[in-house]
Amino acid sequence: MQPMDPNQIQLNSEGRLKHFLTTEGLSKELLTEIIDTANSFISTQERSVKTVPLLRGKTVVNLFFENSTRTRSTFELAAKRLSANILNLDIARSATSKGETLMDTLWNLESMYSDMFVVRHADSGAAHFIAQHITPNVAVINAGDGRHAHPTQAMLDMLTIHREKGAFENLSVAIVGDILHSRVARSQVYALKTLGCQDVRVIGPNTLIPKDIESLGVRAFNNMQQGLKGVDVIIMLRLQKERMQTALLPSESEYYRLYGLNTDKLAYANPEAIVMHPGPINRGVEIESAVADGPQSVILKQVSNGIPMRMAVMAMAMGGQNQEQTLQEQNSEGAK
Ligand code: NCD
Repeated sequence: MQPMDPNQIQLNSEGRLKHFLTTEGLSKELLTEIIDTANSFISTQERSVKTVPLLRGKTVVNLFFENSTRTRSTFELAAKRLSANILNLDIARSATSKGETLMDTLWNLESMYSDMFVVRHADSGAAHFIAQHITPNVAVINAGDGRHAHPTQAMLDMLTIHREKGAFENLSVAIVGDILHSRVARSQVYALKTLGCQDVRVIGPNTLIPKDIESLGVRAFNNMQQGLKGVDVIIMLRLQKERMQTALLPSESEYYRLYGLNTDKLAYANPEAIVMHPGPINRGVEIESAVADGPQSVILKQVSNGIPMRMAVMAMAMGGQNQEQTLQEQNSEGAK
């Protein structure tokens, strides 16, 4: 069976976002609009009064079936700063732990007049599945599904790169580490390529690089010295041990020796290069403290940018949902 085109689910009939499930297949125009919208929210976040009324009266439900600190709290703050009501569901205490199916939980929440679900789930494809099975006027935002996608993280990273480095076309970007288990890396590669970045590299041991990665237009390296040569942006990834089924690593200390970013390895990159990490960082496993806390690190700026970016995609998806509903009402009026 052919997998369904994700844009048949996440775009409305006018080509606007109505869910945000993946960066794969979205146009350059739409990705640029998401970045521009997030940029316009940054100034609101620097004011003493940070709220705007765009989602006033709307109800957002944070549904995190997997742990999270940054993503969950920045989604909550973003919803509040858009003036929405937000319900944080404590999944560990919810009825799913009493045997209720995922869809039953969601149908109950939908019956409470929810307008948006922000979903994180350990299964790849969970957010798509939910978007296809709930009532059409609830927007679904993917906050990370298995190894598949983490589109808001990728877009806050694009916002950070854009603010630090300007245009994407002439940048060299290296993504380092556990590419195989990383939903962040996959979403970043799609976004970077669509935004026009010519030189995207992935660096890691062969066991942590997907076999078909070069078909996405990126170059794979096993050696940090070669892979980091002259890059403008370094994105470090955490070793996602909770997603590894077999021993894919010799040892943590060996990994750090070969792929851990320290000041010596950072020197292979462009002297102006920025260092990024989606968090949580593991000091001494993939990154040295001197680099994580050093002058080239923008790791905490990424966290700050998470709020305006999440405000942008929530506002755009809600706008797309409202537009779709209006179009459908007009069509049914016309048919009478
Ligand atoms: C990432 C995730 O959960 O996929 N973190 C995040 O959302 N900030 C990356 C990770 O877990 O390493």
